[in-house]
Amino acid sequence: MIANTSDILFEASSAGYAVGAFNVYNMEGALAVIEASEDANIPAIIQLHPGSLEKGGDVLINLCLSAAQSASTNVSVHLDHCDDPTSIDRALYLGMNSIMADGSSMRYLDNINFTKNIANQIHNVGGFVEAELGRLSGTEDGLTIPEYQAKLTDPLQAVEFVRDTGIDALAVCIGNVHGKYAREPVLDFERLETINRNLNVPLVIHGGSGLPEWMVNRCIQLGVRKFNVNTEIRTAYLETVQALTTSSSVELTSLISESIRAMRDVIYLKIKQFAYVR
Ligand code: 13P
Repeated sequence: MIANTSDILFEASSAGYAVGAFNVYNMEGALAVIEASEDANIPAIIQLHPGSLEKGGDVLINLCLSAAQSASTNVSVHLDHCDDPTSIDRALYLGMNSIMADGSSMRYLDNINFTKNIANQIHNVGGFVEAELGRLSGTEDGLTIPEYQAKLTDPLQAVEFVRDTGIDALAVCIGNVHGKYAREPVLDFERLETINRNLNVPLVIHGGSGLPEWMVNRCIQLGVRKFNVNTEIRTAYLETVQALTTSSSVELTSLISESIRAMRDVIYLKIKQFAYVR
């Protein structure tokens, strides 16, 4: 059933686990999240990046909301990385109420003002707001932030930022990157520990693809309650489509079911990994 991201993360915080937020681009992606969540019997978040909405627009939002409604588990639909108030208005109008207000490319005070305004707007409809402090490098949907522009989250500034904006969850930059890690990830757990000690909101890790299990576990122990995952799912989808389309006799229906299965398998493992900390 469709759920509020705040409720999903509250439950995860109370029980000490984390939830996966999975970026989708089409019906296959949305159905893969639902199947994996139902098979694991654990809540999940369907996530839409503005890049996918540029192609799928209102139809994709409605499709994801409808998929979430049809689930037997708690599933919310979240707008990822949005810095455009018009797109946020549209998402709210269509019934989404879980938004990442991403002012991380703005100057600090502009980020506070932007995020505070969006948070007020979303709280008025009972929704959930995530924001980012610092800057994540890497590549997502054609947008690349080079390593030299990356900025780790300042723990003291994080306290001020959460207080002044009223957000419900904070995306932290502790060495995590979007897309493929060029080398073994190096996460600054000391920084994460300080941020977590100073704050009482759930923390979010973007760039959830390619993180070793022990790092995932350590993040959860240090207050991370939401992991964003895109690259690993997209890779499973594209590899399946590529493999099947080399044969000229492929049925479109098999392409759909096989690509759902490939993405579902990746998502299922992530959901289980995030929910059972060893
Ligand atoms: P990855 O593509 O690295 O999994 O990151 C996804 C993400 O953070 C979406 O916001």
